[in-house]
Amino acid sequence: MSNTTLDIWQLAARFPGNHARYYAWCKFATDPLYAAVFTALTDTTAPLLDIGCGMGLCSFYLRESGCKFPMRGLDFDAKKIAIARKAAAVHAPDLVFETSDARTDLPAHSGSVTILDILQYLDPAAQTTLLREAAARIAPGGKLVIRTGIEDPGWRFTLTKLTDWFGVLCFWMKSKPISYPRPEELTATLEASGLRGTIRPMWGRTPFNNWLAVFERA
Ligand SMILES: C[S@@+](CC[C@H](N)C(=O)[O-])C[C@H]1O[C@@H](n2cnc3c(N)ncnc32)[C@H](O)[C@@H]1O
Repeated sequence: MSNTTLDIWQLAARFPGNHARYYAWCKFATDPLYAAVFTALTDTTAPLLDIGCGMGLCSFYLRESGCKFPMRGLDFDAKKIAIARKAAAVHAPDLVFETSDARTDLPAHSGSVTILDILQYLDPAAQTTLLREAAARIAPGGKLVIRTGIEDPGWRFTLTKLTDWFGVLCFWMKSKPISYPRPEELTATLEASGLRGTIRPMWGRTPFNNWLAVFERA
């Protein structure tokens, strides 16, 4: 599988409306996240559950990059799910998007799971529950891929938090950021749930304190 020939203009143009298209293009052009998820999932064929999928950018990116496994995205923001569904109806009818709250409505699943930039919207107890629930859904050969801002005293973290608040203030995010995990807490929860893996900074060319965790069944 390779995503080196991915045309991000074409991919962004699949989303309905100028705002969604511009947002998608900015994310694909500047955020190293989706390429990192693609790399992490390259050697698996397990079905993917994308928790907090937003407009489904990750699923569209992976499908366009050649990933053939089934993909299902969940988000509690019905407007974003509607955008994802509209794009999927025309360009990728096999992608599934559902409105669902990660705190209460996780479906049965066995395969890989992605949790990308959503942990900060949950309180610490809900984060731990979500991590455990996600770990329980990782099949042998599947991966759990998490991207999250990490709390530390540096300027990157301050900027990460300010940007998350900006998303709330311009009504793009339905809920406000509550709490950012620490890497050792995240690792401890996942290891206690029977997974092994690594967590490391993934700044790319962004100014944010984003880290990437990739775990699999021990
Ligand atoms: C920063 S966006 C990331 C979107 C997507 N994961 C991506 O990386 O392109 C965070 C997403 O988490 C969703 N979210 C926050 N709390 C949630 C919850 N309790 N249940 C489901 N989705 C949630 C928001 O609606 C939003 O779409």
